[in-house]
Parts: sequence; structure tokens; C-alpha cells
Amino acid sequence: MTGNTIQLDNNGNLKHFLTTEGLSQSLLQKILDHAESFATVGDRPVKKVPLLRGKTIANLFFEPSTRTRTTFELAAKRLSADILNLNISTSATSKGESLSDTLQTLEAMHCDMFVVRHANSGAAHYIATQVAPHISVINAGDGRHAHPTQAMLDMFTIRRHKKEFENLRVAIVGDVLHSRVARSEIHALNTLGVLETRIVAPHTLIPKEVESLGVHVHHDMDEGLEGVDVVMMLRLQRERMRGALLPSEFEYFQRYGLTGKRLEKAKPDAIVMHPGPINRGVEIDSSVADSERSVILQQVSHGIAVRMAVMAMTMGRSGDDMEENE
Ligand code: CP
Repeated sequence: MTGNTIQLDNNGNLKHFLTTEGLSQSLLQKILDHAESFATVGDRPVKKVPLLRGKTIANLFFEPSTRTRTTFELAAKRLSADILNLNISTSATSKGESLSDTLQTLEAMHCDMFVVRHANSGAAHYIATQVAPHISVINAGDGRHAHPTQAMLDMFTIRRHKKEFENLRVAIVGDVLHSRVARSEIHALNTLGVLETRIVAPHTLIPKEVESLGVHVHHDMDEGLEGVDVVMMLRLQRERMRGALLPSEFEYFQRYGLTGKRLEKAKPDAIVMHPGPINRGVEIDSSVADSERSVILQQVSHGIAVRMAVMAMTMGRSGDDMEENE
């Protein structure tokens, strides 16, 4: 399910954004560069550029979301697109309408882009194969598979703080088994050329294939954090767990919770990241989540710029086109 034959057009430009897997380093850097040019739009008195004026975007969230849905909406509005948010709980989906029929209905409204979150891995890829050729699909998180815009906003945050990827050691800590974010991060970090990516988690929360992704696996938190530049914490995804994978949240926090003391193992200037939502006292202590080392809220802000970049690029526009359109 790498999807690159579908997510790139004949000229190698982004048509859909479904996964970070298999995309080139130059394309990932291009997304980051374009996001950099969009990052200042939010500081302007009028927080808008007319790049996607006349385009219609549908936010299709079949799973709950706070950060991703709202930052996609803000990103679309800042690009001057029209955006509609389908409320799945009050839509015809709740009356049994199939995904294909919902998509055809929205296509009949002349939508240009679907932003899709779905519980099933592969849903966004499937939708990209079904839609009319002029429509772009952006994956806003599918099952355990991928969350590419989250990965890219995290790469943007790392680049802002650390400048280069080459010499970085990054630890991804927590429920990797159920995490689409972790998979997309690992692909992006590998492609951008970090020195080392580590996974730190109990045996029960690590997928079997993880070492084939080129990461080092640690089960001891102190060892896993030793000398790292970036600590990425993950939430325990209780809603996706089948069976007893953990003794208790209390015990989990004792072994894998990020406390100030544990963070001392990382480099003194290491940053702490989390895609959110955070569970205080389960995977991260409040004193760390709210500390100066935490860049969690910066990640949210950067999500707007990165999503503007991806939306513009899939519509054949970029940050470079911004000034000439004003
Ligand atoms: N990080 C993330 O995907 O958060 P939401 O579920 O709130 O969108």
C-alpha cells in the first residue's frame, strides 16, 4: 500500500497525499519549504491568500478529530477555498449510505478535494482510486496505516528547532503497534536522513515488522532516551486494542511515562513532541507536557502551514505562487 503510482502525477508532482512511504527526499523537503512560506500567513492582519479561490474542499471525518479536522479547515480558509465539513454522525452514512454513494453525492456538488479520516487502513487510497480525475484526496489518518500530514508537520517542527536532519537521534515512545503517526514518522525520518530512529515500547505494543523499517528497538525507557535530540511521545490507543496488552495505566506510566527525571537521559536541548491528544499521567507527566522543552502546541500551529502547503501542491499551486496572486 505504498501508493506512489497513484499519489504522483506523470510529472512527479503530488496529486494525492496518502502516505509518506516511498516519497523522495526532495519532495518531502519541497513540502517543508512551501509550508515555511505559508507559515507567516497566520501573522498577517488578513490571514488569507487567494491561491485556492474557487476550489471546493470536503472534510470527510469518519473518526473523531480535534486538531486535524480544524487545522485542515483553517488551512483551506486561509487559501480562500470553500470548505464543507461533513458531520458523519448526522449524515446519510448513519442511515446506511455506502462510502461510494457518499463520494458520488459530493462529486455531484463539484468538489475538488476530499480530506479523509477513516478507521480502516487503506480507506483514503481506495477513495483516490474511485474519484474523478480532477479530484485530489488527502489522507487525514487511516486506521493504523498512515497519517502523512501529521508526520510532515512533525518534520517541519523538528527542522525549525534542529535545522538539519542528518545528525539527529529520534526516539518514538509508546503505542507504536496501533500508531499510524509512528509509521508515517518512521518513513519520513528515514527519507530525510536522520542518524537514528529508535522505538521505545513494551513488547506488546511493537508491530512485528518494525525492525524491517530500519529502526532500533528498546524496551527500557532510560536506554531508549539516552542522548536523543527529539522525544516523540505516543498515546495509548485503547480504542484500537484487542485483549489485555498492558497491566495497568499506572504501571505503564511507571515504565514508559515521560517525567522530568527520565528526560534528563536525552540531550539537554532535546525537544519533546506529541501528536495529541495527550493523556496526562499515562504517557507524559504534566510538568513535561507544559515545560519549555515541549513543542506540542507549536506542532498544532505548524499543522496549518503544512496542510496549506499540501493542499496547494495537490491542486498544482505552491507558496511560490502566493505573492503573484495577491
Ligand atoms: N494528532 C491528531 O491526529 O489529532 P486529532 O485526532 O485530534 O486530529
